[in-house]
Amino acid sequence: QMALDELGKDNDSCKEDLKVVMKQTKRAGKIVKDLLEFARQFQPEMRTMNVNDVLGKAIRMTTHPAQLKDVRVITQLTQGLPSINGDSDKLQQVFVNIIVNALQAMAKGGELTVSTRLTEDNEFIEIEISDTGCGIPEEHLGKLFDPFFSTKEIGKGTGLGLSVSLGIVQKHNGSIDVRSKVGQGSTFIVRLPAEGKKRK
Ligand SMILES: Nc1ncnc2c1ncn2[C@@H]1O[C@H](COP(=O)(O)OP(=O)(O)OP(=O)(O)O)[C@@H](O)[C@H]1O
Ligand SMILES: [Mg+2]
Repeated sequence: QMALDELGKDNDSCKEDLKVVMKQTKRAGKIVKDLLEFARQFQPEMRTMNVNDVLGKAIRMTTHPAQLKDVRVITQLTQGLPSINGDSDKLQQVFVNIIVNALQAMAKGGELTVSTRLTEDNEFIEIEISDTGCGIPEEHLGKLFDPFFSTKEIGKGTGLGLSVSLGIVQKHNGSIDVRSKVGQGSTFIVRLPAEGKKRK
């Protein structure tokens, strides 16, 4: 920035070049940060926690971008769910990643629905995040969780969001499923083992 300030007004093209360098450096920095996150053998800090609380935080973090994009957010969180054993920061990151993807898929506004429920066998808590966005072509479904798979413009997506998210969910002995129809939208279902189940 200092170098940029020192350049006079008659140095406009040079100034532009420097701006590009700074932008690319910032981008490279983000990629490196994502890569480290991806590569790190993190030890999750497992605690007894409530999925709805973490999801609520993730939703609050994305309220403003959702408003800007004219997206209506509908939440259907089931009360009285069993707790889970998990790392709330990491799980929050997973939910934010999936919600941001959903918002990015809705260029012209739409609906984001976030719901939680207990599976019928009481074994898992299901977190469902649905959008009414562009949808995912069938040939992409198998690659979604691959590191660096991205359909976003260069500089907009590194393609690490979902691979990092799946890594985190698998550390929790959970899974992520996707259903999607091009032109209609996508649904991501995260399943996490329920803790403190009632004894039969
Ligand atoms: N809700 C969604 N609707 C449509 N396409 C999606 C959705 N979620 C993910 N995708 C597709 O999956 C790809 C991979 O997603 P992922 O989050 O891993 O990477 P990214 O969003 O492209 O980049 P990053 O998350 O690193 O910024 C996206 O580029 C997009 O093509
Ligand atoms: Mg993403």
